[in-house]
Amino acid sequence: MNSIKNTTTSKLPNVKTTIFTTVGNLARKNNAIDLSQGFPNFSADPKLLQLASNAIKDNHNQYAPMEGYYPLREIIASKIEKLHNKNYDPVNEVTVTVGATQAIYTAITAFVHKGDEVIVLKPAYDCYEPAIEINGGIPVYVQLEGPDYKIDWSILKSKISSKTRMIVINTPHNPTGRIFTKDDMLCLQEILKNTNIILVSDEVYEHIIYDGKEHHSASRFNDLASRSFVCASFGKTFHVTGWKLGYCVAPAELMHEFRKVHQFAVFCVDHPAQRAIAQYLKNEQNYLDLNNFYQEKRDFFLSRLRNSRLKFTPTEGTYFQLLDYTEISQETDEELAKSLIVEKKLASIAISSFNVASRQDGVLRFCFAKRKETLEKACDILCDL
Ligand SMILES: Cc1ncc(COP(=O)(O)O)c(C=O)c1O
Repeated sequence: MNSIKNTTTSKLPNVKTTIFTTVGNLARKNNAIDLSQGFPNFSADPKLLQLASNAIKDNHNQYAPMEGYYPLREIIASKIEKLHNKNYDPVNEVTVTVGATQAIYTAITAFVHKGDEVIVLKPAYDCYEPAIEINGGIPVYVQLEGPDYKIDWSILKSKISSKTRMIVINTPHNPTGRIFTKDDMLCLQEILKNTNIILVSDEVYEHIIYDGKEHHSASRFNDLASRSFVCASFGKTFHVTGWKLGYCVAPAELMHEFRKVHQFAVFCVDHPAQRAIAQYLKNEQNYLDLNNFYQEKRDFFLSRLRNSRLKFTPTEGTYFQLLDYTEISQETDEELAKSLIVEKKLASIAISSFNVASRQDGVLRFCFAKRKETLEKACDILCDL
């Protein structure tokens, strides 16, 4: 008799275990300082933790509404209106999700049919392509070139065909730390005008932007907003990645299709956490202060690296910094990342795993959402290289 293994064809034959799991395991095994995955090693605000604890104790422990706890959807809509001057109806246009990951996966699943093309900018965070491929879609790539990783819109335009169903963008961008300017968003808007292309705008680092620069959400641009799922993550904004709480906003007719998938993928999302976040969002300083909080960490990290042999362009947004190691080593980024963990006890991410065909950019990605003493130790190791 055939075993299950022999009779099953993988739907994702080329997908391996995600780099974050592989590197995280290796870092733990080697007791390495972990600047690989994007999560803080400091606590969230005790006030937020207390609100979650209260919600559990007050017995809000059963299913939340399918679309999300209504007061949370209301405050998300009013936050977007204040920041981006765009009105979303909390009833039909805001849905709370299991992190941004589920928002992105669900939007792709709801709209990408077999044979549809989806444009992805590389390097890219690794959750987009598997979602496209499992739905029979075909990723079409636009490569961003270092060191500035600015986008050439004429290249993107040339990749659009009659089969293009969707474009996925990410600003501020992981792993490069670049942000889309207002002009970038206007170019994209112009390219998409009079098409039926849907935009998925991954904006999980919307509140982590440096040097007084501004986040230009797709929701700010009328024609873009009319075709967009704007996806966000409370995990990233409030230092609670383990809560896996996010949301997306989209025009009602798009959201209607989204919810058809959402209701059978997860039905609803962690109820006490939604109540806690709804309360916590009432004080807007809780997210408006985040830029300064992380700017201090970025500046500290980079000031410590000034005397190292690593080269860098300061990251404009996100809590990631790319470091160019080409003066130190000719190894591939995977080889160097591995030897740094095993021999120097410092974990980072090889960004070839975010590129097509493991393309080498000669850089590693470091997450600086860490306590000062962790960053100090990491920088000592990096300065010795
Ligand atoms: C660009 C980007 N999008 C989405 C996510 C996932 O966000 P969440 O944890 O809210 O699912 C991450 C997490 O690292 C990310 O970096």
